[in-house]
Amino acid sequence: MREEKFDFDTPIERRGTGCLKYDFAVRRGRPENVLPLWVADMDFKTSEKIIDAIRRRAEHGIFGYTESGESYFGAVAGWMNRRHGWEIKENWLVKTPGVVFALAMAVKAYTKAGDGVLIQQPVYYPFTEVIEDNGRKVVSSDLVLGEDGKYHIDFADFERKAAKEKVTLFLLCSPHNPVGRVWTEEELLKIGEICRKYHVIVLSDEIHEDFVWGNRKHTVFADLRQEFADISVTCTSPAKTFNLAGLQVSNILIPNAELRRQFKKQIAAAGYSQLNAMGLTACEAAYLYGDDWYEEMMTYVSENIRFMKAYLEKELPQLVMTEPEGTYLVWVDFRGLGLSETELERLIVRKANLWLDSGAIFGKAGEGFERFNVACPRVTLEKALEQLKRAIR
Ligand SMILES: Cc1ncc(COP(=O)(O)O)c(C=O)c1O
Repeated sequence: MREEKFDFDTPIERRGTGCLKYDFAVRRGRPENVLPLWVADMDFKTSEKIIDAIRRRAEHGIFGYTESGESYFGAVAGWMNRRHGWEIKENWLVKTPGVVFALAMAVKAYTKAGDGVLIQQPVYYPFTEVIEDNGRKVVSSDLVLGEDGKYHIDFADFERKAAKEKVTLFLLCSPHNPVGRVWTEEELLKIGEICRKYHVIVLSDEIHEDFVWGNRKHTVFADLRQEFADISVTCTSPAKTFNLAGLQVSNILIPNAELRRQFKKQIAAAGYSQLNAMGLTACEAAYLYGDDWYEEMMTYVSENIRFMKAYLEKELPQLVMTEPEGTYLVWVDFRGLGLSETELERLIVRKANLWLDSGAIFGKAGEGFERFNVACPRVTLEKALEQLKRAIR
């Protein structure tokens, strides 16, 4: 058995750190002592190697404009190659302060006001927001929950929607938040062929690429075919993998020079240039020295998923858990309780004293579901499930 080097079990107080998950409950209409399993960050301390790198950088004391060089690119390229077998080139890299920022830049770069942007609901809700807030139209080819308990793409519907006049961009979530699918090569090939046929650019949001369970493999969409690399923008980031969301660093890879030029033009138009120094330092250290921490964290989180599945099957069989193939987000079907959306919200927040992401915010297709973030100490997860059990019973 592997020797455990890191402590993921002991809860760490996050209150009082400006923590979005814990410190803003009342302002966001929840009880002060609500137990939060919503926003997708982890309740774990990151790797000491990353903390050391940040500490050393902080001690230098000068925080002027900072740019990344060869060593930064080497770290990113090393991770992509080691973990995903993907060879990237330095000139493909465009850094942004977060993936959602990159989504917004892509919407502005590749579509015009009034155009449709294709998504697959239920999906991470900022997809919808960046489309609508930029005056574009959401065109959703909703995922379909199969008898096998997994979500699937209705390819006939997907093709009809991709073919619509004025759909020029597809936002792919891979692995998929919230339904936890890790798309197979076969599915990605079909997506790619359809998008090529109708001249639809594919933004592949692969922020959850490092969270894949069992013997599955994450496939980088752009790496499947040269023709897919030519029509795609791939969003990657150490934020989920190493719990660095507050440092706002993401690496966007755009092999096609013209797509890259259009994307960079939007970043310039937004008045943005260099990233923050701490984010760059953390990203480089994470990708160079974070493997041990990452692997142990993955074991811990996969055990949390197993724990939750066993708990629900035994204690709350009315709820149906979609077992995630990827991501640390667990999507649970509450429709068996027969509650309206308002009643469900009251059950979760007022009776169970939990703060989850209600499925409805991911699109109409998510109504009746709740999303749990299980990247937390097991005692926190167990407490949440106990509170839920008491509320339902
Ligand atoms: C699919 C997906 N994309 C993007 C993000 C957020 O990325 P960022 O914080 O880098 O904007 C999340 C966070 O949950 C996510 O699940």
